[in-house]
Amino acid sequence: MPFTANRDYKEAPRVVASASGMYYRDQQGREILDGTAGLWCVPLGHSHPTIVRAVQQAVATLDYAPAFQMGHPDAFELAEQLIAFSGHQFGQVFYTNSGSEAVDTAMKMVLAYHRVRGEAQRTRFIGRERGYHGVGFGGMSVGGLPANRKHFGNLLGGVDYLPHTHNLEKNAFSRGLPEYGTHLADELERIVALHDASTIAAVIVEPLSGSAGVILPPKGYLKRLRELCDKHGILLIFDEVITGFGRMATPFAADFFDVRPDLMTTAKGLTNGVVPMGAVFSRSIIYDTLMQSPAGIEFFHGYTYSGHPLACAAGLASLQVFKEEKVLEHAQSMTAYWEDALHSLKGLPHVIDLRNVGLIGAIELESIPGKPGARAMAAYKQAFAEGVLVRTTGDIIALSPPLILEKQHIDLLFGKLHQILKNLA
Ligand SMILES: Cc1ncc(COP(=O)(O)O)c(C=O)c1O
Repeated sequence: MPFTANRDYKEAPRVVASASGMYYRDQQGREILDGTAGLWCVPLGHSHPTIVRAVQQAVATLDYAPAFQMGHPDAFELAEQLIAFSGHQFGQVFYTNSGSEAVDTAMKMVLAYHRVRGEAQRTRFIGRERGYHGVGFGGMSVGGLPANRKHFGNLLGGVDYLPHTHNLEKNAFSRGLPEYGTHLADELERIVALHDASTIAAVIVEPLSGSAGVILPPKGYLKRLRELCDKHGILLIFDEVITGFGRMATPFAADFFDVRPDLMTTAKGLTNGVVPMGAVFSRSIIYDTLMQSPAGIEFFHGYTYSGHPLACAAGLASLQVFKEEKVLEHAQSMTAYWEDALHSLKGLPHVIDLRNVGLIGAIELESIPGKPGARAMAAYKQAFAEGVLVRTTGDIIALSPPLILEKQHIDLLFGKLHQILKNLA
């Protein structure tokens, strides 16, 4: 089982059998409030009828279409609409089947771009400690979570890392973005001085680190990174696999932070999690440069299922729901209530930090000495038993509900967590 403690799981399996709206149901029909939008990937709630219908219709119309040297209408239509959803900040999209593939695709795109424009020596990537960019060898290499790396050899060479921005001493219990740590972006200058800018292809960061347990960028940090990348001719990739599609009540985190990356990797909410799909958004300069390569295939890369008709149908239907149901506006209207509810947990035993932005929350617990992760895992299991799905990373409980939630769901979620944390050993 993926990212699962298999032996522990088998002692008391957790199984969900159906889902609709804000809730999962188990095999006995017991409701479980989805506090995590699946794995951050169901912003519009489960089994949305518009998306269900669109996928049903798609599978009966065009079950599969090769994407090499040919196309189908929905793939192009979705690309147009995605570019529009980004406010025309990007020129092209390239389809993958997952966030991991989107990251590896973006990295390959960057290398090909530099090569075609005559800077083939720009091969180095700069990631960030505690970053998560999926499980491909590219993504693992630029990622900074030790457990994801240590079993898997030397990974890609030529990677360096910015420091992470987590600092409880300075920033604990911040509401919204933390004040301290903007200067950590300047570490890029040190890295550039060490390697020389002419060897660096791109910086890749999550606008906020989700999988590491919701680590927020200090105010101004991402703008500073952008400035430094521009100064040194380095491309900036935002990995928006979890932040894309409304998590911050804006289309992308790039909009929330008002920082435009050169490439953006997305997946998850792109199809509301209904059919696997990822997409790399790129600025036209990248596409236009690749089009200057000799005649023939300009970018030797792609997947059998790139632009799969079912995924495109799910993507188009999801964008329709975002628009018709004013989902971003609704998400925005919930953020203040969400923040207050989260911060009402302050003072409960073992709670050493609460942090939030958009419809994201994190509760950091003090670890049991010698047993990192055990306390949050106990809370996770108890929450599931009591009908609430949360997620844990180490001793951090991460929350990222569907964006369609109402105040009553926020009350239920934090009411349960309050009880559980009050009595947690
Ligand atoms: C920022 C980020 N990048 C990449 C990925 C990998 O996506 P996938 O699991 O679809 O391969 C994730 C998954 O959580 C993610 O959070």
